[in-house]
Amino acid sequence: MKKLSKLAENLKPSATVAITTKAKEMRSKGIDIIAFSIGEPDFDTPDYIKAAAKKAIDEGFTKYTPASGVKELRDAVCKKFERDNNLKFSPDEIIATSGAKQAISLVLQVMCEAGDEVVIPSPYWVSYPEQVKLTGAKPVIVPASEKDGFKLSVDALAAAVTERTKLIILNSPSNPTGVVYDKSELEAIAEIVLSKGIFVISDEIYEKIVYGVEHVSIASLGKDIKERTIIVNGVSKTYAMTGWRVGYAAGDREIISAMIKLQSQLTSHPDSIAQMAALAAIEGPQDEVTAMRVEFEKRRDYIVDRVRKIGALSCVKPEGAFYVFPGISSIFGKTIAGRVINSSMDFAELLLDEAKVAVVPGAAFGADANIRISYAASLDKIKEGMDRIEQLQIKN
Ligand SMILES: Cc1ncc(COP(=O)(O)O)c(C=O)c1O
Repeated sequence: MKKLSKLAENLKPSATVAITTKAKEMRSKGIDIIAFSIGEPDFDTPDYIKAAAKKAIDEGFTKYTPASGVKELRDAVCKKFERDNNLKFSPDEIIATSGAKQAISLVLQVMCEAGDEVVIPSPYWVSYPEQVKLTGAKPVIVPASEKDGFKLSVDALAAAVTERTKLIILNSPSNPTGVVYDKSELEAIAEIVLSKGIFVISDEIYEKIVYGVEHVSIASLGKDIKERTIIVNGVSKTYAMTGWRVGYAAGDREIISAMIKLQSQLTSHPDSIAQMAALAAIEGPQDEVTAMRVEFEKRRDYIVDRVRKIGALSCVKPEGAFYVFPGISSIFGKTIAGRVINSSMDFAELLLDEAKVAVVPGAAFGADANIRISYAASLDKIKEGMDRIEQLQIKN
């Protein structure tokens, strides 16, 4: 009898693991690594949020909650949608989950099965294809090229949709590219979604991290598209709360009820204390969110400038999230510090070994001609990291 199921055997480990494990090993040997590989804000969770969690513990809010999440949190999420996205939901159209990642997984599991196809624009967030595969459905990757600013072409989307297509996963602002879709671009996507009768998972986890542009939720474009969209969001990135594990989804009552049923069998509900912290985050003063965004914007401007000065790298200026996604194809076939560079992994290993800078190879996001540099690090660290990369004398 085999020990592991086919499902376990077919699951790919996170493609980011190899490089982060190597970076950790080097660090444990005392090597000073600059981590540009981090997918979480480097800021601390604001004090008023921590205070709400302490209060929840002191008041004994330490027992099971409803599988949907506590009503107060779902009410607050409804208010947030009205306040920020001009969207009306009722609490029974909301589920609180253990992070946005779990929300995406639950939606996929209640909507998709073998025989279905799910359209995923690439570059994509690492977990989308694997989560789709777990349902038995097939991920259909639609590349968005760097020369188009990594924006999905509507024609390519239309061509990818078949009678098997169940849904498309949209992520704006995007990890890893920082792309933010504007209203007219979303309208064009919505038109295809409606004409083909498919659904959208709109992953809006980086909603608050945008620079000089407005975040628009595709669901806010009209009643019809709202009915076809499940929005996923959470507190992880907005409030520097990645470890607290609270996300949420909003959408069609029948889909949300199925997600609640599934969650009740899998994990029951997100942590009770973290739910109270998330409630405080969403309802509380939002000035620290603004302060973090202002700081991220300074870093974005700085790092884009530095990357562009390394002539061999191309760099689309991101409008959101906290990543840049430079193109490295012009150095493929070249030798740098005695190594031939033919892939994003080769380049990431070169940066780690020779510059002691950790980045994530673009292959993890379905884009082997790019690397992801996270600027969730202080300006001093960013400066130091870019100085080190510059010293490698990367040339065309
Ligand atoms: C695009 C995207 N969606 C979802 C998530 C998961 O968020 P959470 O930590 O709330 O599960 C991440 C985290 O990196 C992300 O980048």
